[in-house]
Amino acid sequence: MNTLHAFPWQQVVSAQGYTAESKDRVTHFSDTLFCIDGSGTIVDIIRGDDGAFSPVRDAARKAGKLTELSSDQYLLPGLIDLHVHAPQWPQMGKALDKPLAEWLNDYTFPLEAKYADIAFARRNYTELVNALLANGTTTAVYFATLHTESSVELARICLAQGQRALVGRVAMDDPSQCPEYYRDESAETALAETRAFIHAVAQLPGNTAKRVLPVITPRFIPSCTDALLEGLGEIATETGCHVQTHCSESDWEHAYVKQRLGKTDTTALRDFGLLTRKTVLAHSNHIEDDDADLIKQTQAGVAHCPLSNFYFANAVFPLRAMLDRGLNVGLGTDIAGGHSPSVFDACRHAMTASKALNDGVDARIAAEQRGRPGSAISFREAFWLATGGAGEVLDLRVGKLAVGYQFDAIVIDTRAAGSDIYIDTAEDAPEDRLQKIIYNARRNNISRVWVDGKAVNIQ
Ligand code: GUN
Ligand code: FE
Repeated sequence: MNTLHAFPWQQVVSAQGYTAESKDRVTHFSDTLFCIDGSGTIVDIIRGDDGAFSPVRDAARKAGKLTELSSDQYLLPGLIDLHVHAPQWPQMGKALDKPLAEWLNDYTFPLEAKYADIAFARRNYTELVNALLANGTTTAVYFATLHTESSVELARICLAQGQRALVGRVAMDDPSQCPEYYRDESAETALAETRAFIHAVAQLPGNTAKRVLPVITPRFIPSCTDALLEGLGEIATETGCHVQTHCSESDWEHAYVKQRLGKTDTTALRDFGLLTRKTVLAHSNHIEDDDADLIKQTQAGVAHCPLSNFYFANAVFPLRAMLDRGLNVGLGTDIAGGHSPSVFDACRHAMTASKALNDGVDARIAAEQRGRPGSAISFREAFWLATGGAGEVLDLRVGKLAVGYQFDAIVIDTRAAGSDIYIDTAEDAPEDRLQKIIYNARRNNISRVWVDGKAVNIQ
């Protein structure tokens, strides 16, 4: 860099920290400068042993464009939540003792129906987006409701608060599965509203860089008629938008789809044109071998939601096996099927669930038959799933602190008030410190959040 010229970058962040390159490789960096341009892209990374380090740091400081972290602080890529039901924020922590069908019919649908009221939507969505940002979620993939206006309002709030988001207006028209007070009138109206929503999000003031993207969102196959699913597949082909849905979540749901369509969710979604490189399949706990092959072939991704799965999925997702098979996978909180807004919690639950699958859980079964050995995942893999893995699912340049990626990042302050992360630098190697962060970071440890290089308010 020629420091004689005007300082070329929007800002420079000087930090130590971690980024996951792949599921098998985590990089630790100390004394590193991240040079970020005006559109929030990381354009240069300069290590402490590089001759350019001191001149660049000094020039950035002089230009008032340097952010320096302390020795107790660690820079990580922002966390990515691949599956959140935004309207269910007021339901988080309620009624998880009910089975899925009862939970949906008696709690979720009556609540989601209230989002016809824009003021109600605005209030709850503002609270949710604030809470997720404060928990370090720089990208969220949202199901909204079937109300187009209030779903656009969620997109508007994400833009205003500075979060990267993928937002879906939910489509659900099957009278046999959706209550009359909360369903699309017909496949035609659902398709017209989906088109209107996609158009409205693209047109939102301030969304020229597409920080908020519309997502085609059939709730799940049981709640949609064939005509709706076909039409949504056509919109996916036409627009190239992301797609999201629930896939083979529970015994009931997997069996229902097979009985209705004579094939699995995954095959049916493929046949409807809804399984693409930009499809996010929530759960997928009950997928079969051919389904896994199909997901891999199409490079669609899975949003693994381990906490919600304990309540509603009847089985643990075979995460280790799917990662080894080469599927794109990330994590979801599945609020309010999961009762935590933290992707760090999702990491912990993914590790716990995979260990439960590994060892088995019923002591009455002989140890050799109890579990599925080789199923456990490590904290490094959990970190990958929460960041770069999810970025690959979305096919977006996020989730890594690497040149060419957007600077979506968080700072973990291990000495924040009330911190449960205790690091002894003499005892803890860099790997140990990351492990402690993944296991023990909480909302109060997240002291800064950037999206597209812009600092986000996390009060
Ligand atoms: N299947 C259809 N809708 C939902 C939902 O809102 N949550 C969960 N966990 N599963 C679903
Ligand atoms: Fe869900």
